[in-house]
Amino acid sequence: MIYKKKEFLVDNIKTSVLAKKYATPLYCYSFKKLKQNILNFKKNFKSIKPMICFSVKSNPNKTLLSEIGKLGLGADVVSIGELMRSLKSGIKPNKIVFSGVGKTSNEIEYAVRKKILLINAESKSEILEIERIAKKNNRKVNIGIRLNPNTDAKTLSKISTGKKENKFGVNEKVFLDLVNYSKNSQNLKLKCISVHIGSQILDIDPYKKMLKVLEKIIEKSRYQFQFVDLGGGMGINYNNSKKRLSLKKYSILIKKFLKKQKCQIIFEPGRSIIGNSGILISKVIYIKESSKKDFVILDAAMNDFMRPALYNATHRIIPVKMSIKKSKKRYEFVGPICESTDKFAIFKNFQKLKEKDLVIILDVGAYGMSLSSNYNLRPKVTELLIKNSKIRIIGKRQKLKDLI
Ligand code: LLP
Repeated sequence: MIYKKKEFLVDNIKTSVLAKKYATPLYCYSFKKLKQNILNFKKNFKSIKPMICFSVKSNPNKTLLSEIGKLGLGADVVSIGELMRSLKSGIKPNKIVFSGVGKTSNEIEYAVRKKILLINAESKSEILEIERIAKKNNRKVNIGIRLNPNTDAKTLSKISTGKKENKFGVNEKVFLDLVNYSKNSQNLKLKCISVHIGSQILDIDPYKKMLKVLEKIIEKSRYQFQFVDLGGGMGINYNNSKKRLSLKKYSILIKKFLKKQKCQIIFEPGRSIIGNSGILISKVIYIKESSKKDFVILDAAMNDFMRPALYNATHRIIPVKMSIKKSKKRYEFVGPICESTDKFAIFKNFQKLKEKDLVIILDVGAYGMSLSSNYNLRPKVTELLIKNSKIRIIGKRQKLKDLI
């Protein structure tokens, strides 16, 4: 994805052509980038040979999931819907882990019948429910227990999950009790200790602390876990800043950790696999001048892409066509929705735009379409995949008539 002759291209295809043919707003993914991310992830962790389960919540598109499956990844799911879709996309049950604090009986029953790799339980009540369902089905079910390591992930507070005040996992004492309970159960096979401390982590220290906590608790439990599921959370570079998470360094830490533990690592990455492979193409509807800044009112809105409104996340916005003129403007990019939080970003020195110009919001592959909604009765938008210079519609724009 680069500018060529001043126009932004996705794998050699002009984004202006896409916008014209498929209308805006429009999500577009690059297969090349996706594949690159997966190969890069695998390369960095090569020495620990992890099982990589793509976090489906970050992007549950059927075609993307099947491509990700073909590139060798499994799936991390958090609902029966995600589980069904992963299976339908060709991901094998023995590569699927099921996380989440509130799995219903229905969901557990389905997972048990499908014989997935692991159900990662997050409470005593859930373990009892899995046991009851396993017994009813005359099965011994593989489970993990999610530990809350009380580790600050140093990320946006709204996407932090590993501190004791967060609802996720169980504390050390409960964990040890649950290990004892599960290992004596006829219908449970305890296989995994799991953690996930948060998302968009750019600092290696939280991971270092998390591994220390894990090391201690595994020792205390005196139990041989077959798997250690470290969750996901690896951050990406949204703002062109220098701060980056080194997967290589993380891999070295894990290698050390594995000297003491003989187990297989599972990862559940979402954002680091799909985040920078997606863009959102949008058209300027109006430009509204005001004293301190001009508002650029786009046809994309918070219902199409929620991260800025929900987490104050910042995403770069770039023009589809670079202007040769030098004049710069202070712009606030907003959507048409009737909410003040329906804004994407402010830029001090953006090239001068005019109505009907096209812009691109970058790095929306993860938690973009998956967080979108029909708020203000706006239809969900088209998704395209560019693979080997071919354009494929992988998500159809909803029709207004289906909404009304
Ligand atoms: N595993 C578990 C148990 C999780 O809860 C999550 C994300 C992941 C894996 C994947 O994390 P990733 O590698 O994508 O960071 N909507 C927010 C992010 C919420 C993440 C929720 N859990 C955002 O747009 O930043």
